[in-house]
Amino acid sequence: MSEISKFENARRRASKLLEKMTLTEKIGQLSQFGTSIYSDDHKAFEDHFAEGKIGSYLTIRDRKRINEIQSELVEKSPNHIPALFADDVIHGYKTTFPIPLAQSCSWDPEMTEKCCAISAKEAYRDGIRWTFAPMVDIARDPRWGRIMEGYGEDTFLCRCFARAAVKGYQGNEIGEKDRLLSCMKHFIAYGAVVGGKDYNSVDMSMQQLYDIYLPPFREGIDAGAATVMTAFNDLNGVPSTANKMLLTDILRKELGFKGFVVSDDGAVEELVNHGYAENEGDAGKKAFNAGVDMLMSGDIFNDHFPEFVKNGEISEEKINESVLSILTMKFLIGLMDDWKVDENEDTAFFAPEHLSAARESAEHSFVLLENDGVLPLGKHDKIALVGPMARNKRDVMGPWECVGEEERTVTVEEGLKRVFPETKISVCEGCDLETDDISGICEAVEIAKSADLVIVAVGQRHGTVGEAASTTRLRLTPPQETLINEVSKLGKPVVLLLFCGRPLVLTEYRDKANAILCVWYPGTETGNAVANVLSGKHNPSGRLTASFPVTEGQIPVYYNFFSTGRPAVGIQRFEAKYNDCQIEPLYPFGYGKSYTEFLYEDIKLSSDKMTEDGVIDISFTVRNTGKHDGYEIVQLYVRDLVASRVRPVKELKGFKKVFVKAGESKRETISLKAKELAFCHTDMTFSVEKGDFKLWVAKNALDNSNEFDFRVV
Ligand code: NOJ
Repeated sequence: MSEISKFENARRRASKLLEKMTLTEKIGQLSQFGTSIYSDDHKAFEDHFAEGKIGSYLTIRDRKRINEIQSELVEKSPNHIPALFADDVIHGYKTTFPIPLAQSCSWDPEMTEKCCAISAKEAYRDGIRWTFAPMVDIARDPRWGRIMEGYGEDTFLCRCFARAAVKGYQGNEIGEKDRLLSCMKHFIAYGAVVGGKDYNSVDMSMQQLYDIYLPPFREGIDAGAATVMTAFNDLNGVPSTANKMLLTDILRKELGFKGFVVSDDGAVEELVNHGYAENEGDAGKKAFNAGVDMLMSGDIFNDHFPEFVKNGEISEEKINESVLSILTMKFLIGLMDDWKVDENEDTAFFAPEHLSAARESAEHSFVLLENDGVLPLGKHDKIALVGPMARNKRDVMGPWECVGEEERTVTVEEGLKRVFPETKISVCEGCDLETDDISGICEAVEIAKSADLVIVAVGQRHGTVGEAASTTRLRLTPPQETLINEVSKLGKPVVLLLFCGRPLVLTEYRDKANAILCVWYPGTETGNAVANVLSGKHNPSGRLTASFPVTEGQIPVYYNFFSTGRPAVGIQRFEAKYNDCQIEPLYPFGYGKSYTEFLYEDIKLSSDKMTEDGVIDISFTVRNTGKHDGYEIVQLYVRDLVASRVRPVKELKGFKKVFVKAGESKRETISLKAKELAFCHTDMTFSVEKGDFKLWVAKNALDNSNEFDFRVV
């Protein structure tokens, strides 16, 4: 059956079922519950089962439990409707993959599609049918802890990953076995919270919203995203969770979203704190009437909506529409026909091909920030591995580790010992990741003294990144700084391995190490991936997707800022700059080193003109002039020189990841479509403007070496 007829069929079955449902049961379909409702005293919720007041559950991570709940619900509820079980399957279920920010540094959306498909399969086998992912919030502020959960600061790149992740989770059509419903979140502009403070307000022009924050959602919806989650923040004074313009006019009418909307957890009752609703009933009504279909989580809808329907404040037709969307999904994924989870089917968890995908995606996500030639590691008799991440299994999994198993994590120590069996590797953590305990630093220094080379594995612990983890200090803990300082004084070659979930200020560590490899949080295969990259088995190819600032005072520092009237060109005092710091970040968007060198040669544009619906093909040769095979990420940036609204100084409009063997070259093409140059005008129309543009074929956002002109005519 084609997708459309499958959808129609599911909707028809949903409509039939709807006719038999009581208002109570309908409202129940709009209500999601957490673990509390099935805790030991779940008897207190007996009426929920008997009256069918439960539509969905979140984060119940036990398929035996899921089967118990489903059978009770199906048996007792009036129309025997099973619940939709959801979870935050964000960078893996059991097999843990690199965090999304790291995945984006691979510039390899296909790899992300594969990681999401594997995560979906493992979660599906455990009874989960819906994930709260991908998060496609653009984040330009590393103080915001959730920057780790998205795909970086750039809209074009995030669009590519949004599409890939939706396809990875859902497959080609909703309802395939071993896939999950996806949920694009958080609608919208959550990444732009003032000051990088989680849950804070957002105030921005609608043009900015349309140009920067909306496109990844549009892309994911185009790719078939089944659901969307609201955001905690208000947008220009109206909380997103009760924002009719966002949830109905833009999301449904303009973007054509056909699935259902779930509120973020607590966001409905928080409308009271926002001062936007009088009480929780009022909050529920405002959220629902604005376009929320399902409440995460609790009884607000169950408790208040029957009364609102009676007095006309909520229409039953609107409730029917929401129930229909939710039931249609339940039919579409086959839940209504078969909800039972096989409790003995374990072959998918940590399957060998899942582990190799985890290792490969980790290797591709690492960004080599500095290297004076010390890497890849040559032959060393004695290596000292120091720092709190040396044997770490927990933090390296990353903040949304779901049901990843700590004991399955391969540590850096284990990985190195596997890849360098001949080398004596001495290990000492040196200091604590959480506390200010520095008692082991002397021991770490002693070990380092007798080694040929020192690897310092440092980073940020679980809980300091992710949700509710905003910070003003983007640095390592003082004990780890002491460790780096002391080791660097020994005069030995030092390799810094950095585990983090956001850009950090590395200005002071830069001169203290011969190489810095940013490995983010790599997940289950941490040690194997790290060892393969340090040894040169995999040549690092990751490129930053979020700028690393020189100092916290530069924030926000992102590459695609608007052209100002006084650009910082250094000819006069009165320029848009800082007097005590450069305006460029320490490491820009798109930056990353390799063990080899790549040259771009013979760059040709198929034309220097195109019409508003035209294309220019940019072809180029990538020559690998070094001694190692490797991947290069060729980036295409443009600048619209004169327009009816001020345009960014540069915008990414294409890229190509190319594998080139040492000494060889490859010819490649990137196509630039004129429609990619469209932007939102002052009157909210969206089109390409004719005129002159610049174009760069570049290694990162600050690379101006290959500059060309073209015109849209
Ligand atoms: C709150 C978070 O903002 C959201 O992203 C997540 O999916 C829900 N909690 C459920 O865990």
